[in-house]
Amino acid sequence: MKEFKNKTAVITGAANGFGFEVAKECARREMKVVMADIDGEDLKKSSQVVKDLGAEVLAVEMDTSVFEEMEDLAKKALDAFGSVDLLFNNAGVVTSGSIWEMPLKDWEWTMGVNVWGMMYGLRVFVPIMLKQKTPCHIVNVSSVAGLLTTPGMPAYHTTKFAVVGMTEAANYQLQAMNANIKMSLYCPGFVQTDLHNCDKRRPERFAIDDDPYYQSASYKTGLAKAKHVITTGIPINSVAQSVFTGIEEEQFYILTHPQYNPVIGLRVKSMLEGKNPSAELFRR
Ligand SMILES: NC(=O)c1ccc[n+]([C@@H]2O[C@H](COP(=O)([O-])OP(=O)(O)OC[C@H]3O[C@@H](n4cnc5c(N)ncnc54)[C@H](O)[C@@H]3O)[C@@H](O)[C@H]2O)c1
Repeated sequence: MKEFKNKTAVITGAANGFGFEVAKECARREMKVVMADIDGEDLKKSSQVVKDLGAEVLAVEMDTSVFEEMEDLAKKALDAFGSVDLLFNNAGVVTSGSIWEMPLKDWEWTMGVNVWGMMYGLRVFVPIMLKQKTPCHIVNVSSVAGLLTTPGMPAYHTTKFAVVGMTEAANYQLQAMNANIKMSLYCPGFVQTDLHNCDKRRPERFAIDDDPYYQSASYKTGLAKAKHVITTGIPINSVAQSVFTGIEEEQFYILTHPQYNPVIGLRVKSMLEGKNPSAELFRR
């Protein structure tokens, strides 16, 4: 996709972080912008910023982990702007803690947003784009955490690896159809966003309750680590550029943190050489 003016972008998780950055860049490129997010208050503020940049904006408060809400988002986008040309399939959350300690609810939430929500985005918007037959692009947001593993956040890794598999497989199928849709898989390392505060954006059915886990050292240490890695990540100002370069150059894998590339390579090399994984790998 090379032309952006007057095209429509749908962005999930648009009220903060990557989604908000991409929404502002869409406005600068004179696109119409559909900003979807579960956080109504932040969405109101962020969508006003994007409007102030001159864009036509539709703000939709919704939960990507509910299929009917994704369908409703598409309907609202089409009613407002008539087409969907770019999907930034981005909304995500992070959880930490061991598999055997984390409440099942935390798994369900992480999987619900990061995997099901992402899949719902493809399921709903791919047919719309195919029908349009115009050049379209979908960026699925995974992470470097979908390409290598660390010990602290198994649910997050599980979801981000799933997004890698989902996106590669969908992309092969679209290629085989010679479809009008190109895809990118966005895999950044740590970036300064609001991700470590995602607990405050849990849908009601996944709300933190009186489960003692939420008072435990595991939970609190996990939160502190998430806060540390996100707040010491790279500044967010390079995100929109890397995403749009990927779209314009039809780049499938968009990696933004070259320091992790040797570790990704070593992980694959260890597999091919039959070596067992070691936590030493990610300490390099
Ligand atoms: N920040 C990083 O270091 C980093 C690195 C790699 C990948 N990512 C991924 O980038 C994506 C965006 O995260 P971010 O860092 O910009 O975080 P962020 O918290 O700043 O923004 C995420 C947005 O998604 C929204 N959201 C959360 N759950 C939702 C739901 N169920 N429905 C709709 N909206 C929902 C939040 O309200 C928030 O506005 C996520 O998929 C995340 O996993 C982030």
